[in-house]
Amino acid sequence: MKLLAAPVAALGYLLAAALFILALKGLSAPASARRGNALGALGALVAVAVVMLSTDFAGSNLVIVLVMIAAGLVLAVPAARRVKMTAMPQLVALLNGVGGGAAALIGVIELALPPMIPEGTYGWTAYVPDDVAVATALESSVPSALPALVATAFGIAVGSISFSGSVVTFLKLQGWLTARPLVLPAAPVIMGLTLMTTVALGWAVVASSSVPIAIWLLVVAGFLGVLLVLPVGGADVPIVISLLNAFTGLAVAATGWALDNVLLLVAGTLVGASGTILTLAMATGMGRPVAGILFGALRGGSTAGSTEASERPVRRATAEDVAVTLAYARRVVVVPGYGLAVAQAQHTVAELVDALRGRGVDAVYGIHPVAGRMPGHMNVLLAEANVGYDLLVEAADINPTMPSTDVVLVVGANDVVNPAARTDPSAPIYGMPIIDADAAAQVIFLKRSMRPGFAGIENELLFAPRTQVLFGDAKTSLAAVLAAVKTV
Ligand code: TAP
Repeated sequence: MKLLAAPVAALGYLLAAALFILALKGLSAPASARRGNALGALGALVAVAVVMLSTDFAGSNLVIVLVMIAAGLVLAVPAARRVKMTAMPQLVALLNGVGGGAAALIGVIELALPPMIPEGTYGWTAYVPDDVAVATALESSVPSALPALVATAFGIAVGSISFSGSVVTFLKLQGWLTARPLVLPAAPVIMGLTLMTTVALGWAVVASSSVPIAIWLLVVAGFLGVLLVLPVGGADVPIVISLLNAFTGLAVAATGWALDNVLLLVAGTLVGASGTILTLAMATGMGRPVAGILFGALRGGSTAGSTEASERPVRRATAEDVAVTLAYARRVVVVPGYGLAVAQAQHTVAELVDALRGRGVDAVYGIHPVAGRMPGHMNVLLAEANVGYDLLVEAADINPTMPSTDVVLVVGANDVVNPAARTDPSAPIYGMPIIDADAAAQVIFLKRSMRPGFAGIENELLFAPRTQVLFGDAKTSLAAVLAAVKTV
């Protein structure tokens, strides 16, 4: 039984689509991100409610639908609540994969259903004519049958690539699979053959509407997704999440086209477009072309790094040394990185910067676009500690001030201040714009050991004569420095 009339359902879809757009707008700035997230969730709720109230499917399968929604809630809510900030990319990878997989499965199921006739512009209704002549006439009266089949095959293939690729990405980020690039013997040949088979199966699905062929397409495209992500390694893995996110958007949009469902089309297009923009922004932030990220390891250029600690000597500092250096500086730039998130030291670093500013030191933060492990990671962390946006200076704006900066305090960051990005063409981060900490008069690193950063390469700046290292967890070190600053 349909509780909502078609025009009301169409308005509901419009409302949900508007909420998705407002959500993206809200997510574009840290100050409005929470509101954006809530609007997106509300949009999803409206969409689910409208689908359930305006179609018959819930009537026949209501119990299954409710059980599946309950199972999803039981799994997802605790996982999202408990996830650590630093494990967020894995969670995003997993959720994204589920979206792609769902789009692919819907495509297969659509093929298995009886012929459909369009019902208005926002949905199709299954219709089984009892007369062959009527059925033939009906089929020829559906002008979008071929485009819909192409979209279905596309959605199955791309959704499946997104699912399997996201699972491999999750395993890599979780540390259950090595983060290094895994290149199979004759990988380009295997990948080429798998790609050709995927295209051929897609074509066969369009030509035959065959469900068994669609299942083969699902499997082979899934294998292609694994092949695509296995050779990606090191610092590039999180970018692939964003790329697969864009793929999921495309798969959902294709499914929306095939089902003539405006909301899926809008939501999929938004995800596809925003995922593509984010991928390009991250690739630019890391100074690496997207093709280099995906196929670099196949060409032999590996992004593999080491996790071994360097044994070269460095100048060690105590918390008191650091406090004196900072307290008597005119200008201090704090460069936060992944270690700040690991140590959850955002409140302590904010207190230290406030204390320095209270003493008249011109202390600000230098924010690198890919510091941490996800876009805007440092902005989100520092917003938690109520750091004013006026103190957060982007890399491009902070770099010209570096020669006149007395001290750069590098808190749990490494790659984003590594001069190898400028000087060493063989380094995996070569070409990545960095914060020019080496141009300042003094550099102080807060880190736990001599282990390298995400890219797994040594940072010459650690060994420079004007660099000192205060070893320890960033939160403990910052608290000790803060206490000492108060006594200087
Ligand atoms: P990293 O280069 O990974 O360096 C992090 C540093 O933090 C390490 O030197 C580590 O040394 C230290 N650390 C870890 N836990 C700590 C703790 N509890 N206390 C103190 N120090 C701690 O980080 P980064 O400079 O932020 O660079 C980010 C990297 O991730 C780049 O390579 C970037 O390309 C990559 N990446 C970022 C993104 C986005 S979008 N943000 C996406 C993909 C890849 P110890 O282990 O010795 O303490």
